[in-house]
Amino acid sequence: MRDILAPESGRWRAFTSVFADVVEGAGYEFVIPPLMEDLGVFTRIGEATDVVTKEMYDFFDKGDRHVALRPEQTASVCRAFVQHRPLVPWKAWYSGPNFRYEKPQRGRFRQFDQVGIEVLGVDDPYLDVEVIALGWEFYRRLGLRQVELRINSLGEPEDRARYVDALQAHFAAAGDDLSDQSRDTLTKNPLRVLDSKRAVDAPFVASAPTIDQFWSDGAAAHFDTVQSGLRALEIPFVLDMKLVRGLDYYRHTTFEYAGGTLDSAQNALGGGGRYDGLVEDLGGPATPGIGFALGVDRTLLACDDEGVFPAPDRSVDVFVVDTAGGAAALAITAELRAAGISTDRSYENRSMKAQMKGANRSGATVAVIVGTDELDAGIVTVKPLRTGGQQASIARADLLTDLRSRLQEATS
Ligand code: HAM
Repeated sequence: MRDILAPESGRWRAFTSVFADVVEGAGYEFVIPPLMEDLGVFTRIGEATDVVTKEMYDFFDKGDRHVALRPEQTASVCRAFVQHRPLVPWKAWYSGPNFRYEKPQRGRFRQFDQVGIEVLGVDDPYLDVEVIALGWEFYRRLGLRQVELRINSLGEPEDRARYVDALQAHFAAAGDDLSDQSRDTLTKNPLRVLDSKRAVDAPFVASAPTIDQFWSDGAAAHFDTVQSGLRALEIPFVLDMKLVRGLDYYRHTTFEYAGGTLDSAQNALGGGGRYDGLVEDLGGPATPGIGFALGVDRTLLACDDEGVFPAPDRSVDVFVVDTAGGAAALAITAELRAAGISTDRSYENRSMKAQMKGANRSGATVAVIVGTDELDAGIVTVKPLRTGGQQASIARADLLTDLRSRLQEATS
């Protein structure tokens, strides 16, 4: 768990605001689920997933309720849907921290942020295309160029179940030649054996049956439409039959955005898919759902690696230096801020030299300087800090107009 300080923190705010622009422009409404829920909400993610069995921050609260910090937000959004029953299609977006007790490393944290969307109540494969395309568009807006979109379909629940049986048989036949870890995974979640990166497992993973052999006609047709929709939007993708994702609720379309610059274990910048069935599991009516979540921490690392989406400049416009006691700084600062000009000042009546140092450090475009002589004469000194131009004395009453034209010039 980390502190995020400026200037990096400014980047986080900008990140969320770009995301909001993209998804609100497509009709998604902002939801804020709680950070903590009844544990039962999250066990629906899948009793056989590491997220539930090993990584949950769960505890008993003072009322003896078994609760957990959210490891993701899809289950919470579905729980909110069941509770409030908004009209469908319900298109929601969210942003905020999640908690997983994982082994920390570059790109993997115990508290990490996601932005994401979920749509409930629509079975149309063109919605799958819309959702995937919005994530793609967001990465494009950040300036990332090395993102690879990988897609797969896990088919209908019955297709998936038959596939799991086939994988079970395939890997069981490998016997002791399979790694200990994969043999353990096989007993809990055969699909996850496909994720093994261990060399001893590689030949068995390579020769494993693929999910497409198990798709029903309906599942194959759904996935065909998704692919043709992506082609129509000219979004490049890679078919990855081994993409099973880490959570149990997926059916039909699953996808991941992989970063080109991160270690392969942490290169998933974001992912999602259909989860028809989750709302029902949480006590609601049968309701199809689809969405994705994008990891903020990881995506920003990818931005660093590609040299895009730098921290925005959050410097103030004006810095007020007052060597006449501070009352003039109080009044001028208030006047400028009220006029919409971002303004900072120094305190404690320090020397001119110390205050000018503060002014330069602030990154302000202009310093407004008031001394006893200026006060008596009803003037102020205005000094450009970034451009190196001449300082000027102007009437106190003209300050606002003068600053407005200087700042406009500086930004044009
Ligand atoms: P997920 O694949 O578990 O999916 O997480 C999505 C993204 O969150 C990952 O691709 C990654 O960027 C980021 N992430 C996950 N764990 C960590 C971590 N420990 N440290 C840093 N980043 C991390 C979900 O959470 C699903 N709820 C996505 C979804 C939405 N499916 C349907 N709707």
